[in-house]
Amino acid sequence: MQKIILTGDRPTGRLHLGHYVGSLKRRVELQNSGEFDKIYIMIADAQALTDNFDNPSKVRNNVIEVALDYLAVGIDPKKATIFVQSEISELTELTFYYMNLVTLSRLQRNPTVKNEIKLRGFEKSIPVGFLNYPISQAADITAFNATCVPVGVDQLPMIEQTREIVHSFNSIYGNTLTMPEAEVPKSDLEQRLPGTDGKAKMSKSLGNCIYLSDDEDTIKKKVMSMYTDPNHIRVEDPGNVEGNVVFTYLDVFAKDEDFNKYLPEYKNLDELKEHYRRGGLGDVVIKKFLNNILQDLLRPIREKRESLSKNITYVYDVLKSGTKMAQEEANKTIKSVKKAMKIDYFADDEFLNEIVDKYK
Ligand code: TRP
Repeated sequence: MQKIILTGDRPTGRLHLGHYVGSLKRRVELQNSGEFDKIYIMIADAQALTDNFDNPSKVRNNVIEVALDYLAVGIDPKKATIFVQSEISELTELTFYYMNLVTLSRLQRNPTVKNEIKLRGFEKSIPVGFLNYPISQAADITAFNATCVPVGVDQLPMIEQTREIVHSFNSIYGNTLTMPEAEVPKSDLEQRLPGTDGKAKMSKSLGNCIYLSDDEDTIKKKVMSMYTDPNHIRVEDPGNVEGNVVFTYLDVFAKDEDFNKYLPEYKNLDELKEHYRRGGLGDVVIKKFLNNILQDLLRPIREKRESLSKNITYVYDVLKSGTKMAQEEANKTIKSVKKAMKIDYFADDEFLNEIVDKYK
């Protein structure tokens, strides 16, 4: 069996560090592992419209921003097909057929949907399109016969929903769809990078993000104003490392080489934490250290993004040709789905022969 990746993001804003550690980094690793036969990365504009239907410009503008972010982090159009969801009408068609296989109460029980309903104030009246998006996500995944879906943990209920649809479809109509598997980051911290304010998640609406496209000064400002330990007032005070965002980020991003380069007084993070706990280590030192590390990580991404943005027709062409390739692939799936569902009347002579035979 072929090994195929499909994943994607809603184009509702530029991508940030949370996206990077939670998913983008892993996608690039998987892409470069050479283990996969095909890789599809989808810009989920149709899904973004399910809760931004009244703001189409936002979605349209962010399609190109997300494409730039993808290319800047190292998604390689020679190895991966980047495409725009709404252009693939087969996805809408598949969604329509899968809707028969899912109950309303099952959708309402989906933990991610439940949470998002609350966040968006949809409790009183939920747009059908929004409630339906897990089904459309199953269409995205199965249209490309994806075996592997690299996502953040918040997406696990979506993959579970997809697996149920695949199971149900295959048992009713015969083995047609490929069963996908989710792939999530190994470490808890990568799964949910907190925001710079210490809130549980980095998120655009909370305004606590460091964007992949932020310039040097912006990154520095955000790091220098990060939440630490509110009781660590004077340098001499003992400090808490737990719940201290600077240390959380250092846990994710600091490597031993970084100590060598920027903070040679310490061998590693354990030594630094030890000193902070004991007292006598100021927040400015640890923030400057983290700033250096993040600048090193983000500089090449930002520079690549800037040079791509000067050549924006190239990015447009990547999207356009990727979308064409994706469409061809999805078309193969819709054909086999329609055949399995016995609605492929004009695909060959089978239906004609049947009726001729019947009315002989
Ligand atoms: N729901 C995903 C998100 O909010 C985006 C998405 C749409 C997706 N379709 C997908 C992710 C299919 C993986 C597979 O980020």
